[in-house]
Order: sequence, then C-alpha cells, then structure tokens
Amino acid sequence: MIIEPRMRGFICLTSHPKGCAQNVVNQINYIKSKGTIDGAKNVLVIGASTGFGLASRITSAFGLNASTIGVFFEKPPQEGKTASPGWYNSLAFHEEAAKAGLYAKSINGDAFSTEVKNQTIELIKSDLGKIDLVIYSLASPVRLHPTTGVLHRSVLKPIGKTYTNKTVDFHTGIVSEISIAPCVDDDIANTVAVMGGEDWQMWMDALMKADVLSNNVSTIAYSYIGPSITEAVYRKGTIGKAKDHLEDTAFSITNDLNKLGGKAYVSVNKALVTQASSAIPVIPLYISLLYKVMKEKGLHEGCIEQMQRLFYERLYTNSNIPLDEKGRIRIDDWEMREDVQKEVSALWENATTATLPTTGDLKGYTSDFLNLFGFGFSEINYAEDTKENIVIDGLISVVPQK
Ligand code: NAI
Repeated sequence: MIIEPRMRGFICLTSHPKGCAQNVVNQINYIKSKGTIDGAKNVLVIGASTGFGLASRITSAFGLNASTIGVFFEKPPQEGKTASPGWYNSLAFHEEAAKAGLYAKSINGDAFSTEVKNQTIELIKSDLGKIDLVIYSLASPVRLHPTTGVLHRSVLKPIGKTYTNKTVDFHTGIVSEISIAPCVDDDIANTVAVMGGEDWQMWMDALMKADVLSNNVSTIAYSYIGPSITEAVYRKGTIGKAKDHLEDTAFSITNDLNKLGGKAYVSVNKALVTQASSAIPVIPLYISLLYKVMKEKGLHEGCIEQMQRLFYERLYTNSNIPLDEKGRIRIDDWEMREDVQKEVSALWENATTATLPTTGDLKGYTSDFLNLFGFGFSEINYAEDTKENIVIDGLISVVPQK
C-alpha cells in the first residue's frame, strides 16, 4: 500500500508506519546522545503512544534503562485503513526496546476504565512487582466515567464572555479572526471530569491499594500555562479549570503517598505541536510565532528535548527539584522568558496572512504536524509499497476499539 497524508481539519486520517518508526528512532537517538542517568527502574506511562507520554517513555527506557509499561488508546490497522500513529509509534518502540534488551509491554484500551487499571495492575504484579515512576499524560476529548457511567465531553471555551482573536489555518496559512462563545451549563464540570485530576487520583488509589508502588515512588502529570494572548481560551478557560484541578490533585496524591515516602508532581511543559494541541483554536498561530522566536534564539525544543530536560535536569539530579510558588516543576521556563514573550507579542500584533510566512514559522508547525503522522521524513521513501506488521509483541488489548 502507498500511504499519503489525508487531511481533515486538524487531523490527518492516515499515518505511515515507517515514518512513525523514524520519529521514534530519532527520539531514541536524541536520548542516547545524552548518555544514561540513574533514576526509576520500573516506569508506568499512561498515555504512552504519542506526544509527551511517548517522549517520557523513550526517556525512561533509553535514558534510565527502565522497564516500561505503556497504556494508550490506539487503533490497529484494518483492511485498507492505516493504524493511528500512536499504534505505529508503539510498535516501533517495542521493537527498539527489544533490540536494546529492555522490557516493554503495553495495554491498548480506555485508561479511564476500571478494566484497564486492573489489567495494568495484573501485568505489574506478574512482570515487574513494583513501579517507581508513574507518568500521567492523557489527552482526551471524552471520558466515560467508570462509576457513574456518564460520558463527559471536554470543551475548549472561554468562561464568561466571548473571546475574539486571530487564528491560522495551518494548511492554507490564512490568518483570520475567530470568535469563541463562552461555555454554558455543565461545560466546566465536564471538562474538569475529562482533563482534571480525578482519573489520575483513581489510578494512584488503585495502584496503592494493589501494593504495586515502591517506596519513594514518584508520579507526574503534565500541565500548561502559556501567555496572556491565549489565556482566555486556555488557562482561564474551561481547560484551565481542568488544569487547576489536576494541579490541586498533586497535593492530595502526595498526601496519600506519604506512607511510602512518595510524591506527586505536576510539570508545566512548553506549547508544542501534538494531536491534542492542534485542536485548540488560536494555539497553532501562537506556536508558529513562538517557534520562530525560540529557533532564532537557539531555545527551541520538541517533546523529546523537553522530557530529556525534565528527567535529567529536574527529576533525577542529586539536588532538590526546583518548584515554582505553586509547587510545580517548570520546563516552560524558556517559552515564558520575558524576551521570548515580548517578541512573540509584537509578532502577534502584526500577524496577517501576508506577514506570517516571514514573521512566523508556519513551515516548522506544518512539518511537525506531518511528522506526528509519520510523514515528511527525508529518510523515508514514501513512493515505496508499505507492508505493515500488524502484531505488536507484548501488547494487550483490553476493550473494543473506539
Ligand atoms: P497527545 O494527544 O499527543 O497524547 C495523548 C495520549 O493519551 C496518547 O498516548 C493517547 O493514546 C492517550 N489517550 C487518550 N485517550 C485515552 C484513553 N481514553 N485511554 C488511554 N489512553 C488515552 O497529547 P499531549 O499533547 O502529549 O498531551 C499530554 C499531556 O500534556 C496533556 O495533559 C496535555 O494537556 C499536556 N500538555 C500538552 C502541551 C502541548 O502543547 N501539547 C503543553 C503542556 C502540557
């Protein structure tokens, strides 16, 4: 099969197995170039197949020599249809881990469900015994609540009043004005139910109850703050309420982990092109200006560079982990630097369809977007017929696919 990108809105309907594998190998090579460090030996990554979760798994395995269990919700390939990129990423990760003699098993299913939590616990008990680090990196638009049965849908809306600002269609480069109506009714509660900390807490409760967490265990979830330009739709919008809840949950989990000497952290990460962030209005324009400024200053990072810095310069150093006034780890420090933000704001003011090709890095944005689906890698011959492997060694599928 010859596979080409097929775009619909902010998603790509196809993905390329070899390109996804290249993406994984490039990230592994980056971590290998940094050498190994001492840290967690058994790592559970929830949301392990793309974005920050995949980069966390790669850093754990190839930077810490850790055994990893990954949980994700991805579509395997079907007759005439490619798999979702996270499926190919995980296939490649398993293959590379096996070559390196590293333990890697994964569970494909709904992480919000009790079944997936139970299955993960069984796997930990049979294979690893105890976990030293739990990464919580889920990004989902929906959550079927495991006890109430309610299907919650998250929304990306401002609170209180309509938000109007610029946005870009990154496929065409057209900058236009967008107005987003404020949230209504249960939008905030639903978004908090999906992207807040309740499920993280449920995972940690289940793992603790099953006695599969080691002494001094750490757990970490990812958050975002961002600039004033995106504040109304991000940090002060519905998703921001969910992030507030996630950040508060870290304190209650730390409390619960006290008896193990464990601790829960939130790391505030940089804005990056992932499947989750490309769905948020306004963010693609912000990211394309941010990329331009950060690349010019030599400060640009992707998910893997961010996770390398998180593990090597925050989590596993011999000194105390530096935290901000709200107890959070900050690896968005370079994004939020005053000079960076000042320049991005100035570019934002003048951003139009005509100016963006020179003032922004739309090319970088689009290339990163294509890379997410395994396209745009110079090493891959896309004209070549692709035969795909349809079995991931060490993968357990728990529930029917979405
Ligand atoms: P992503 O879309 O690349 O990855 C999401 C992961 O969650 C995938 O592995 C997917 O399979 C898994 N997943 C989704 N629903 C699931 C379900 N029901 N069951 C099991 N697995 C499921 O997202 P990204 O961007 O890496 O986001 C991860 C975290 O990082 C999120 O909390 C996000 O808010 C945060 N973050 C993202 C930033 C960005 O710019 N992309 C910036 C700062 C924080």
